[in-house]
This record gives sequence, structure tokens and C-alpha cells, in this order.
Amino acid sequence: MKMKVIKVEDNNALSTKAANIVCEVLKKESRPVLGLATGSTPKKMYEFLVERYRKGEISFKDTITFNLDEYVGLALTDSFSYRYYMEKHLFQHVDINKENVYIPDGLAKDLSKECEAFERAIDKVGPIHLQILGVGLNGHIGFNEPGTSFKSRTHVAKLEESTRQVNSRFFNSIDEVPKEALTMGIGTIMEAEEIVLLVQGEHKAKILEKIVYGDVTEEVPASVLQTHPNAYVITDIDI
Ligand code: F6R
Repeated sequence: MKMKVIKVEDNNALSTKAANIVCEVLKKESRPVLGLATGSTPKKMYEFLVERYRKGEISFKDTITFNLDEYVGLALTDSFSYRYYMEKHLFQHVDINKENVYIPDGLAKDLSKECEAFERAIDKVGPIHLQILGVGLNGHIGFNEPGTSFKSRTHVAKLEESTRQVNSRFFNSIDEVPKEALTMGIGTIMEAEEIVLLVQGEHKAKILEKIVYGDVTEEVPASVLQTHPNAYVITDIDI
């Protein structure tokens, strides 16, 4: 085995474990910097973090967050945008200072300038202490689809048709799924001090095996994590 894998029983255990890891960083760092993901996988982790915030165990007062990605062309208030997702599942429930929340703006007039500004913001307060990742069925991390350079920085990415299909479950129809997104690059992601890849559900068994045991190749973006000194997987899949 090339990458450390923490096997857990189910989504509940996975989300508890992930929330614990986030809490440790919040407690340890005076100004924690988190890298966050959206999608189905981390939903329960956010739910648990909100619970622990309500119990008074943690605070996000001094936390700075960088989200991995955002669709191009969706308003910040659009219920399908990742900004909306983050507000709904975490930010509106906790004491985070909104000025410390960074999510690429998919409506920016100049998208490459927006990507540069995002990189600069990370540079200023980074490194990211803990990056949470999910993975797509094709091995993408953020919206870095197969073939993306391991050196890539935050950029405009074209979504694979298969990704649009998979993500259409969050939209009214496939036609509404944007074709492009802004995403942290793989090079950017790899600069985080600690990276936790959450992989939930049997349907991801095949890609997980490639990520953990397969070749490190740009054709399987998440395989790059094998080369990170402090990246590991939490999964409920038997591998
Ligand atoms: C989301 C993101 C994506 C997802 C991936 C898995 O911010 O960066 O890479 O993590 O598509 O999505 P789910 O968890 O919905 O299977």
C-alpha cells in the first residue's frame, strides 16, 4: 500500500473522523487555515462540525477557509453554486468571519484574474493547514479532470461530460450544469500541510484502488496524493 488508508464502518464514522480532524486543527492553530470541499461526501462532516460548534466545543472565529472550486456562470446566490452549498451546510451556522471565506467567484468578469487573486490570497495566509478532498468517479480532485498537470495552479477548468452527468443530480437537468469551473490547481492543493481524501460508497471502489495502489499518473489526478508526505484516505470501502 502506497498511501495510508483509514478504514471506517460507514458514512457516520467517516464523517465523525473527518470532523475530529478538523476540530484538532481548529484547536491547535491560533489562525487555522482550512481547504474545503463540497459535494455529497462531506455533508455529514459539516453537520457534525455545526453540532460541535453549537455545543461550544469549537469556534471558527479566527479560521480562514479556501474552497476548492466553483462553477462558472452561477450567481453566488444560485442554489446550485458551491458558495450557496457552503453557506447552507456550514457558514451560516457558525461564527466564521465572512471576510475570511474564500471561494472563487465564477461570475468574475476576468476569470484568470480571479484565479490569480485566489492564489495570492492563499499565498498571503498559507500554507493551508488541512485540505479536505472528495474524489470524482474519474479520479478528479477539485475540478481537476484527468490529464490536468500536477503542477497546475488555480485555473478555469472544462468539466468532462461524465462529471456533468454525475453532478446533474444536484440540478434540475443536465442542460443547467455549467461546462466550466474555477478550481484550485493540483500544484496548489499539494502545498497543503495535511490532506484528507474522503471516499464514501462502493461505487468509488474501483477508482479508490487506482488512487491508492495504481501508478501516479495525471490520468488519475488523485493518485498524486501518493507523493504527498502527509496525505491519507478515510473510506468506508474495503480495499
Ligand atoms: C467538490 C469537489 C469535487 C468533489 C467530487 C466528489 O468541491 O471538489 O471534486 O469532491 O466530485 O463529489 P461527491 O462527494 O458528490 O461524490
